[in-house]
Amino acid sequence: MLELERMGELPELAVEAKGLTKRFGNFVAVNHINLSIRRGENFGLLGPNGAGKTTTIRMITGVIRPSEGYVRVFGIDVARERKRALRYIGYMPQRFSLYEDLTVEENIRLYGRLQGLTGNLLRERVRELLERFYLWEFRRRLAGKLSGGMKQRLALATALVHDPALLILDEPTAGVDPPLRRKFWEHFRELNREGKTILVTTHYMDEAENCDRLALMNRGRIIAEGSPREIKRKALGGDLVEIVLEGDLNPMELPGVRSVLEDSGGRYLLIVKDSGRDLPRIVKRAEELGARVLLASPVHVSLEEAFIRFMGESE
Ligand SMILES: Nc1ncnc2c1ncn2[C@@H]1O[C@H](COP(=O)(O)OP(=O)(O)OP(=O)(O)O)[C@@H](O)[C@H]1O
Ligand SMILES: [Mg+2]
Repeated sequence: MLELERMGELPELAVEAKGLTKRFGNFVAVNHINLSIRRGENFGLLGPNGAGKTTTIRMITGVIRPSEGYVRVFGIDVARERKRALRYIGYMPQRFSLYEDLTVEENIRLYGRLQGLTGNLLRERVRELLERFYLWEFRRRLAGKLSGGMKQRLALATALVHDPALLILDEPTAGVDPPLRRKFWEHFRELNREGKTILVTTHYMDEAENCDRLALMNRGRIIAEGSPREIKRKALGGDLVEIVLEGDLNPMELPGVRSVLEDSGGRYLLIVKDSGRDLPRIVKRAEELGARVLLASPVHVSLEEAFIRFMGESE
């Protein structure tokens, strides 16, 4: 058991960054960002190539030092007490970090020893991880001879060898086929259920929908933050709904309507405050106004659309 856990529960904030900044010469790769990731959360960091995601993660893991600001992991300042902080962090870097001329099992053992595990504890842990990530039958294969998906599974296993409370995954599913991507997300969900906090970056918007909260980065800044639902609402100014009706009325008279995106022959695309609450009220009111409602339903908005709007605003 780790020292913080021995003292009781881990602190509520898994990651706390304030004014976190990284300059490379004159170039500002990460520009005064604030982050609060709660314990147990699945937090997604998104953004286009070069946005600063990996640089942010490298500061959180203490690989590089911030030019300004600080980051704490479970209350521990990473730049000041890196070794102590690292006991709580499992890190799967964006670029392959395994030893290609060691076998699958040797890689996990090596990472385990680097984390201070020995003897029976190490042996049990290695076995458990080999089984959990379907690597048992490949345990004697050289890491360099694995397929892309298997390498990613092995990298995830090595990141988990010391049972860290915070797991940081930098594009864990890049180059992984869709069935295995799904399997990976099942693993992440399961790890969350076991109480682990996950910080993950991805370019896949469908994956980002699975996160509890997201931060969208662009050019070193965080330009949007919140749950997937909140981000969509912020991008549009509310929920999108579709109404089809017979009869003549002004859609702005309907309850909860904030704006009208489309108005064509009785079919309306409306932005409302809260679709769950407003749709029944809209139907009721429209009928009171003498219209016949043929359809009233929420419209799915993709995260991609929401992000394109935010990116447009931030340029
Ligand atoms: N060591 C370095 N020296 C100089 N510039 C760097 C260094 N590391 C990163 N950068 C620059 O900082 C910016 C942010 O890079 P970073 O790798 O953090 O982006 P990213 O969001 O992870 O992108 P990707 O989605 O492609 O992984 C880029 O313009 C990159 O070229
Ligand atoms: Mg990156």
